[in-house]
Amino acid sequence: MQTIPKLNLQEILEPIKPELERLEQRLLNEISPDSRSLTTIVQDIFQAGGKRLRPAISFLVYKALSSTSTHDNEKLYLIAEISELIHTASLIHDDIIDNSLVRRSMPTLNSKWNNAITVVSGDFMFARAAVNLGKLDINEIVCLYAKVLENLCAGEIEQIEHKYDTELNWDYYYTKTYKKTASLIEASAESIAVLLGTEPKTREAIRTYGYELGMAFQLIDDILDYTASAEALGKPAGSDLKDGQVTLPVLITIESLSETERNDFNKLITKLADAEPVLNQLLGYIEKANAINKSIVVAAEHINKAKNALNPIQDSIYKTALLDLADFVLSRSH
Ligand code: FPP
Ligand code: MG
Repeated sequence: MQTIPKLNLQEILEPIKPELERLEQRLLNEISPDSRSLTTIVQDIFQAGGKRLRPAISFLVYKALSSTSTHDNEKLYLIAEISELIHTASLIHDDIIDNSLVRRSMPTLNSKWNNAITVVSGDFMFARAAVNLGKLDINEIVCLYAKVLENLCAGEIEQIEHKYDTELNWDYYYTKTYKKTASLIEASAESIAVLLGTEPKTREAIRTYGYELGMAFQLIDDILDYTASAEALGKPAGSDLKDGQVTLPVLITIESLSETERNDFNKLITKLADAEPVLNQLLGYIEKANAINKSIVVAAEHINKAKNALNPIQDSIYKTALLDLADFVLSRSH
């Protein structure tokens, strides 16, 4: 019998509520440094909340694969913190790069503090993630997250280098998407398989789930930039195209154009900074190509792959939550 997926995040994550609450306490109390302004900054940031998607994946994978209690597994919590610290730090740096003033419906750090304090606060969180990796003392997991840090930097630089570049192809977009988003979500899942010492087939199933979910997550983020309001997102919307970001909707549009239309599209992109009418003309092309709906279809394919990857995993309420989480990620696009 087919069950109806739950699309409310809180409801989906109910089976790991105690773990998420404990993580929240740890983020607020145990991450605090000695410096007073850093303490305020770190606490403000974690108090603002967030979906805690990456730690949630780690907790759910742990419980889907192991019947041992999470309570005494300090290493599980260290990993959950590592993912959230790296994610938060990368957003702090990204908001400086994008000059964004609002995130999670709150003023960003760079809107309240100068760049020196903001950059170093992000660095502090990366450093704390490194401290946690040291405490873990599992070389394979250190290697996974070290590669994630490299990927995040490379993905961000590639994105900056290729603004307004309409010669890009899907390979570029997929690689960049993996580096800047999917690699961390993949590591949040795979590191738990490593922690538990699972056999290679299970580890690969879990890694694939994280990879595909991570890819879909960024694809949908790129779609929402066109479809959602700033209020719904808690951050500015519609900024990717204005900023010259060639994401999936633009790639799909370019593919659909005749040579003359493509020349026109390319010319318009170079004039983007100039005026609203240029933006509206480009949006017209995107609409005519039905590029948003086609992008949702691509994201849905990744969600299906994520769910299918879990086939070899034993049924449990935690596996169901991982499946529902995949549906939730996709539902955000409609
Ligand atoms: C958000 O993308 C940004 C990321 C997913 C990654 C950003 C990575 C860095 C700034 C490099 C990290 C640095 C180190 C030292 C590891 P977005 O701008 O598409 O999303 P948004 O709309 O939420 O801002
Ligand atoms: Mg950004």
